[in-house]
Amino acid sequence: MIKMEYKDLIFPAGFKWGTASSAHQSEGGNHNDWSEWEQVQGNVKDGTDSQVACDHYNRYEEDFDLMKEFGHQVHRFSIEWSRIEPSPERWDERELEHYRRVIQALLVRGIQPMLTLHHFTNPIWFRDLGSWLNPEAPEIFGRYVGKLVSELKDFDIIWNTINEPMVISAMGYLFGEFPPQRKDFGDAQVVSRHLLMAHGQAAEAIRETYEESGKNHPLIAPVMSVSHFMPEDPDDPDDVELATYLDELYNHMWIKGAITGKVIDAEGNEMRYEALENSVDFIGMNYYSRQVVSSRMDFLNGEMPEKTIAERCDGLDWEVFPDGYYPLIKTFWERYGKPLWMTENGIGTMDDSLKCRYIISHLQQVYNAIQDGVDIWGYLVWTWVTNFEWAQGFMSDFGLVGMEPSTLQRIPRESAYLLKDIIEHNGITKEIQQRFLQ
Ligand code: FCB
Repeated sequence: MIKMEYKDLIFPAGFKWGTASSAHQSEGGNHNDWSEWEQVQGNVKDGTDSQVACDHYNRYEEDFDLMKEFGHQVHRFSIEWSRIEPSPERWDERELEHYRRVIQALLVRGIQPMLTLHHFTNPIWFRDLGSWLNPEAPEIFGRYVGKLVSELKDFDIIWNTINEPMVISAMGYLFGEFPPQRKDFGDAQVVSRHLLMAHGQAAEAIRETYEESGKNHPLIAPVMSVSHFMPEDPDDPDDVELATYLDELYNHMWIKGAITGKVIDAEGNEMRYEALENSVDFIGMNYYSRQVVSSRMDFLNGEMPEKTIAERCDGLDWEVFPDGYYPLIKTFWERYGKPLWMTENGIGTMDDSLKCRYIISHLQQVYNAIQDGVDIWGYLVWTWVTNFEWAQGFMSDFGLVGMEPSTLQRIPRESAYLLKDIIEHNGITKEIQQRFLQ
């Protein structure tokens, strides 16, 4: 076996480390469009639901204690809209108080909160109004954000508006795998447009609320799911063209709109949408895998070539492909010139040594991008404690900290110690790479 020569890969001073999660996947006890969908047999692969999740709603202090012990500097999490606004414009004061305590609990432990305003789930009443297909959806969401931000503006928060708009539109409205399980390209386009406008409304509500109370502009970002699209046959111009088209459609179209402030309307015309102005201070990037595509297959109907890489995420067809990370980071930087946060990266597997290798090999790519001049502010692993994975239930375990099923006791895995080590060194030392990659 060839011995690799490694060197210390130390990140810039001030680079931030931590983990990411979402309310629905961690809290337990939510009632929203997703929790109802989970109750239909067959929707969640392993037949579980989110009702307990990892009971983070009650155990957040214990989880944050552990994060502190492991040196985390940032935590990305979401607030559950259906808890705050259980019916239109009725605000639940007890839930607002709960989240104030959550944020305070992070801050007193010296952990920076990064707060996502929308992470896939919707209140039932919003679903019944037509969800993201409703032309009023952006304003309805903006109204909610305005209220929430006015309640939380005194805390030091980094704001994420919408998590993975293209996943919401593609998985929910094109491939029909997430609620509301539609399969209509036109609907998917409408949803993606409304989510873009909703991002603008949210950003505007945040800016205005801070301005009105004489506060400095906080950092605001949308969070994009990015995937590395590759032609099955690099010598086939049709495959290359398809990969390029999908890359543009999935990775770029939406964020381009957020940056330029332009939305494509129903007639295909570009229109200025004022709320989008100054709506992106940095871009959150979630990277997991690649997509190999073939022009001979009907991609839009879910047809894809056989996977060729043996290592992949449990329950999800996501191959381990670190080489796709760097080019996406580089392209985002070159095209948009905005600082980046790696807001999610990780793997769902019971093989913890694979999890460790995954993290290290992806961090090597982030390091290389920084060396090549990309301004990256931080890296967050998905996720801290084992939680509910949307359509897989508990069969894709992304946690660095496992959970004893009957007691829900937290059990840090070697990968949790790996992240601690990385944070302590502000990078991946030669020794870390040797230990896990050889
Ligand atoms: C991302 C989602 C996140 C989590 C990971 C595995 O697409 O944002 O909630 O489920 O995938």
